[in-house]
Amino acid sequence: MKIHYPVLLNDSIDGLNIDPDGIYVDATFGRGGHSKEILNRLGPTGNLVAIDRDPDAVKYASFINDSRLQICHDKFSNLSSILKKKQITKINGLLLDLGVSSPQLADENRGFSFLKDGPLDMRMDTTTGKTLSTWLEKADVMEIQNVLSDFGEERFSKSIAIAVCKKRDKELLIKKEGIKTTTELADVINKIYISKGKRKQLLKHPATKSFQAFRIFINDEIDELILLMKKIPKLMKKNGRISVISFHSIEDRIVKKFMKPPQKGVSRLDQMTPKQYAFFSSINIRDNNSSPRIQQIKKVFPSEDEIRINKRSRSAILRVGELICENENCKIRNEKQTI
Ligand SMILES: C[S@@+](CC[C@H](N)C(=O)[O-])C[C@H]1O[C@@H](n2cnc3c(N)ncnc32)[C@H](O)[C@@H]1O
Repeated sequence: MKIHYPVLLNDSIDGLNIDPDGIYVDATFGRGGHSKEILNRLGPTGNLVAIDRDPDAVKYASFINDSRLQICHDKFSNLSSILKKKQITKINGLLLDLGVSSPQLADENRGFSFLKDGPLDMRMDTTTGKTLSTWLEKADVMEIQNVLSDFGEERFSKSIAIAVCKKRDKELLIKKEGIKTTTELADVINKIYISKGKRKQLLKHPATKSFQAFRIFINDEIDELILLMKKIPKLMKKNGRISVISFHSIEDRIVKKFMKPPQKGVSRLDQMTPKQYAFFSSINIRDNNSSPRIQQIKKVFPSEDEIRINKRSRSAILRVGELICENENCKIRNEKQTI
C-alpha cells in the first residue's frame, strides 16, 4: 500500500495554534492525516469535528477509536447546520485541504485519474449527483468548452469540446452509450494535442488540466469553497484560526480574496483573463464591512524536501488566517462552547 503524506502537515497545524481544550473542524478529512495531528495536539477535553463528502473517507474515519473525534458525511458548505446539530456555537479553528485525496486518485473505479482505466464518474460523493459520463451525454460544445476554460485554463478548450462531442455522438450511434471511461476521454484529449503538434513539448499529460476542470465542475468545488469561506467568520471564536491548503490557482485566489482587508479589491496583476477578473470582482465576501473577518497571517509553500518525498505537494499553497474584528459595531459574542 502507498504511504499517505499529508501536505504541509506541520505548518498547517502549527497555523491553527491549537488550544488543547478547543473545538476544531477538519472540513476535508480524506484519510485523516491532518485530523490525526490535530488530535495529537488536543487534550482530553478537546474536540474535533471531521467532515468529508466521500463515503469511503467516512468509513475510514469510523475505524479511528477516539471519543474526541466526530465524523460527518456531508459537504463542508453545510458547516453551520453540521455544528448546529452538534450544539456547537463557535469553533477555535478549521482546516481545509482542498481537492482530491491520494486514495481517490488511486482507485480506478472513481474515475479521477487519466492514468487508470475506469468508469468516468468523478463524484467525490458517490451517493448523489451526476457522474461526468452522464453529464457528457447531454452537454453541448459551449458548455464543455466553458468548463475547460473556466476551471482548467485549457488553451485547446474549444477543439477538445468539439472532439468530445463528436466522439460521444459516434459512440451513442454505435453502442448507444456515450463516453464511458477515463481512457476514452484521455485519448480524445491526447489526439487534440498531437494534431496541434504540441504533444511532445508537454511535461504533464495533456489530459491533466481537462480532468481537473471536469472534477471541479462535477463536484461544484468553487461554489463549495465560496459558501464555506462566507460562513467561517460567524462560526469562529475571536482569534480563531483557519489553515487552507489549495492546489489550484482559482481556489487560492478565492482564499486570498477572503483574507484581504475589505478595501483592497481584486488585483488586475493576479494574471487573470477579463472573464476571471469579472468573476472574482463579483464575489461578495461579507454581508457588510463591519462583520468579523479573516486576516491572512501567513503564506507557506512546501519545501524542496517535501516536494521530493511527495510530488503531489508541488502545487500546494497554504494560507493561514485569523479572525479579527476591526470596528466597534462588530461585537463578537464569545458564546460558551457546547458539544
Ligand atoms: C486533499 S483530500 C484531504 C486529505 C486529508 N487532509 C488527509 O491528510 O488525509 C480532500 C478531501 O476532501 C473531501 N472534500 C472535497 N471537497 C469537499 C466538500 N465540499 N465537502 C466535504 N468534503 C470535501 C474529498 O472527498 C477528499 O477526501
